[in-house]
Order: sequence, then structure tokens, then C-alpha cells
Amino acid sequence: MIDRIVNAGVEAEEPQEVELEITLRPRDFANYIGQERLKQNLKLAIKAAQKRGEPLDHILLHGPPGLGKTTMASVIAHEMGAQIRVTSGPAIERAGDLASLLTNLSDGDILFIDEIHRLNRTVEEVLYSAMEDFKLDIMLGKGPSARSLRLDLPTFTIIGATTRTGALSAPLRDRFGIIHRLEFYQADEIQQIIERAASILKVKIDKPAAIELAKRSRLTPRIANRLLKRVRDYADVNGDGIIDTELSHKSLQLMDIDELGLDNADRMLLAAIIENYDGGPVGVETLAAITAEERGTIEDFYEPYLMQVGLLERTPRGRKVTPKAYKHLGKQSKKDEQSALL
Ligand code: ADE
Repeated sequence: MIDRIVNAGVEAEEPQEVELEITLRPRDFANYIGQERLKQNLKLAIKAAQKRGEPLDHILLHGPPGLGKTTMASVIAHEMGAQIRVTSGPAIERAGDLASLLTNLSDGDILFIDEIHRLNRTVEEVLYSAMEDFKLDIMLGKGPSARSLRLDLPTFTIIGATTRTGALSAPLRDRFGIIHRLEFYQADEIQQIIERAASILKVKIDKPAAIELAKRSRLTPRIANRLLKRVRDYADVNGDGIIDTELSHKSLQLMDIDELGLDNADRMLLAAIIENYDGGPVGVETLAAITAEERGTIEDFYEPYLMQVGLLERTPRGRKVTPKAYKHLGKQSKKDEQSALL
């Protein structure tokens, strides 16, 4: 995979960046900027659960990477006054791994499962009764002498996160009482996130520069914080420590990030559809082949933002670039080129 400054994948993070992000992460709703509808719904569910003295319903958060699913899970835990355990779909390899996780929880605890769509079938099936009845069904032995054992579990809450709800099986999805999609942020929310992060990091940034950075952050907090950090490096080396528009411009230029927040990889993807397929439609598998990326990477990382800003469309026959993409890349469609010649 191409190493991208705008890559929102958790796996691409460097350890110090993870640390940095943890300190920048809001701990409670009051400090969490954006996702207003989700926050309202969650506040209500938390109040109701607390009033009834019951555990919170299981929650599924889905949406593009970097929008704050993990952060929201830790905010929910904080607001519930609950402990949170963090794991991920691929980390729970066997039913035994899940059994050990669940039996070590206490009443009211939250188990956060990132990339929950990557749980394997056997583990998923054990999870069903755990989520529904707080019971753990384990098989002892194999073949005709196999017996099943039912254990009581503490009353816990699962918060699952996934970049793709489509990849989740229907029985698993149905066991979540609260299902929400995290949306891209508004540009002014990203600006506020940048200003908040700058004040935590004790970085001086003027308003026009914060607006500029916000515009190029793909409406995604994780990217905003990452760009801020890179621009701060640039300011520390080349400036007098204050980030203004000129300095942020230069630094973003060095990173090859354009006015819409696209990097080289995005532009190559759009250019490939224009040049090789006359703007599309073209199948996602073909796009994966020309960009040497996995289909999942195209679907999770590239497409959501390109569609959000109106550069790409998904049609039943494949992906198509929009007239705005031609304009953004300074290209003409073949039809327009021909009519210009006539
Ligand atoms: N840092 C990252 N995401 C944030 C958010 N939604 N609100 C405040 N700070 C953040």
C-alpha cells in the first residue's frame, strides 16, 4: 500500500502518533466536537440506562476510518463511569479467546471490538448468546461425547466498530440495539478540532491557517490532527513557531496535498479512470488492479471522501468520475476534446 499522509488506517500509525492522538482525544461529550445527532442519541440512551440501572444496549458504530469511532467508544465509557476493554475482530482468533475476554469483564463493563466485521464465524456464533442473554455456550470435547456448557456472564455492553456494515452478517447486526453511522465532519467543526488540538499541543496557529488546514483534512479529525503535527514540524524548522497561511501552504505543498485534501494517490486514481476508461464506469476490481491497492482499501479509504466531495460516483455499472473531477485535475473529456476540434 502506498504510504499516504492522508491515510486514515489505524495500522499505518506510528507509535508516537497513537500516543499523540490519545492525548488529543476528547474524554467526554462536552469536549467532543461534531457528530451532534449521534451524541444526542447516545446521551439519551446513557441517561435512560442509568435511570433504569441497566447496562447500555450494545452499540454498533460504522463509517469511514478516522471519524472517531474509537474515541466515541471511550467517551461513552467515561460518561457511563464504566471500564472499557479494547480489542479487535482479527485479534479474537478462537472461541476460547472470546470466552477469556468475556469472563474477565465485570458488570457494566464495555468491550470495544474494532473491525468487528473481521470476526470469524465460530467466534461470531459464540458472541450471539453472549450478547443476547449474557450466557456463554462452550463445547467441551468433540464428536459423539461432546457436551455443551452454559456459563453466566456479567452484564456487559459491546461497542462494535466497522468501516463496512455491509460486511457484517445479519444475525450479528441484529443483536445491536443502537446502530449509528459516523458522518464526515463539517469544515468548521474540523477547524475547531484543529484549534483545540493546537491549544493542547501549545502550538500557535492563526485563524486563516486553521481554516486552510481544515479544508485539506478530508473532513476527518484524524487527518486534521496529523496535518497539524506535520505543519508544526515545518513551522519549528522553517518559521518562528507560529503557523500562518503562508507557512501552512508551503508545508502542505511539500506533502503534495491539494486544496481539496487529495494526495497523489487520489489524483492517480481519478486520472486513471479518466485516461483509461474515459471517465468510467469502471469496476472496483479493475481500479484495484490499476492502483495496486486492495479492493477494501479503495472502498474504505479512497472512495468515501471522493464521493463526499463529489468527485466520484458509484453506479450499478461501476465507478464514474464527475465533471468536477475533470475540472479539479484540469482535464477534458474525450467528447469535449473532439467537439473543440470541430
Ligand atoms: N480530536 C479528534 N476528534 C475530535 C473531536 N471529534 N472533537 C474534539 N477533538 C477531537
